Amino acid sequence: MLMKTRSVFVCQECGHRSLKWLGKCPSCGGWGTFVEEPELNQDSSSPQTKAYEPVPLAESVPSSVERLRSGISEFDRVMGGGIVPGSVTVIGGDPGVGKSTLMLQLCARFAEKKPLYVTGEESLEQLRYRAKRLEIESQGIFGLTEQTIEHITATIEQYTPGLVVIDSIQTLYSSELESLPGSIGQVRYCADQLVRLAKRTGVPIVLVGHVTKEGMLAGPKVLEHMVDVVIQFEGEGNYAYRILRAIKNRYGSTNEIGIFEMGTKGLVEVRNPSALFLTTRTRPETGVAVAATIEGSRALLVEIQALVVSSGYGMSQRVATGFDTKRLQMLLAVLERHLGLDFLHCDVFLNVAGGFRIDDPGADLAVCAALVSSLQNRPVMDRTVAIGEVSLTGELRQVAGMEQRLKEASKLGFETIVMPPGGSQWSAQGELVVHSVSHLGEAIALLVQ
Ligand code: TYD
Ligand code: MG
Repeated sequence: MLMKTRSVFVCQECGHRSLKWLGKCPSCGGWGTFVEEPELNQDSSSPQTKAYEPVPLAESVPSSVERLRSGISEFDRVMGGGIVPGSVTVIGGDPGVGKSTLMLQLCARFAEKKPLYVTGEESLEQLRYRAKRLEIESQGIFGLTEQTIEHITATIEQYTPGLVVIDSIQTLYSSELESLPGSIGQVRYCADQLVRLAKRTGVPIVLVGHVTKEGMLAGPKVLEHMVDVVIQFEGEGNYAYRILRAIKNRYGSTNEIGIFEMGTKGLVEVRNPSALFLTTRTRPETGVAVAATIEGSRALLVEIQALVVSSGYGMSQRVATGFDTKRLQMLLAVLERHLGLDFLHCDVFLNVAGGFRIDDPGADLAVCAALVSSLQNRPVMDRTVAIGEVSLTGELRQVAGMEQRLKEASKLGFETIVMPPGGSQWSAQGELVVHSVSHLGEAIALLVQ
């Protein structure tokens, strides 16, 4: 039998054990590496550990897992199709981004499964007030204000709710450990207890986690290794939209994103995200081009804005928002070398509209078109989407997900596509006119009029 006797401190770097906390590890010399852990001792009277019989993998093909679909499709998709029973998920995000709101809305969708919302941060009154604001039928949702892990696990065992939300993991603590709630040792111990409980009972648990300044989940990444799914809820400054991203998913892809808008009655799913990132223009403007990017399984149209102005006598600047500055510099170099354009004495500003971040080489051509358009003060062809990766030699390269990109462009009423060779097979997409060109120079000649 395993019995807990006392806690020990273990160096996270080398595994050195000590009965008291040490600032510096005498073994590896690391500073601040000691974390408290409960020490488990083998009871001397226990019989010798019995061997288990290993199971041949071929015989244990699991049946496809039944997922709990919330019906909030932006959430379900990021989760890989829904919540897997017995899974543990961490949702991280800055304070105020809307984690508690999303979790309460999630509970409401599973009201018939008697979900349990454990809050260590807010009072039940605050929870009720939020439910009222969200116009949630809170019947069926159970609340608990508790911070001790032992009480929480006992409650879950007894009531076996269909879903448990812990808001937040940093507020939990075990009286077995001396360290403060929120410390690495506490977070890890409490999360470990919950992971074991979820696996044993099949109750899915979602842990809300705060993100530290460095952008990491508190408890330096320890949580990420322990749980099945890690999702991140992000917001951009003053914009109302929120993006849900999967960072780790044992049951699905990590490419998917979910887009929500924070309204007066909680989070609303954004079904047509392209509309959010395209500004409404009545006539073509200079320095603006539209890119079609891929986020997970979906295409998204985004507007790229460039401003190229003379830098006078000072050092010229290259400033990119929502786009990698190094990639911008590379594209400027390609434009200079292969198209003979001179950006040397210009300040270049690049912005992705709506505060969106692009990390897709398929947007290269649109970026180049916006830059040339601003430099030459000539607009980009109206109702046109530019797609393609630009190589150092000035060639245009195909990118993945072409069909989805074109479908999205067609859906939003765009008429022309300029893209790399191999486009003939896509020209049947709706009413789109597709220009397939192999060199950046040809593409820019078509795009910038
Ligand atoms: P909250 O879910 O408490 O964020 P977190 O748990 O991530 O800290 O939401 C915080 C913000 O959202 C808060 O500033 C108020 C705002 N909000 C709305 O705009 N509309 C709503 O319907 C709700 C419930 C909150
Ligand atoms: Mg909260």
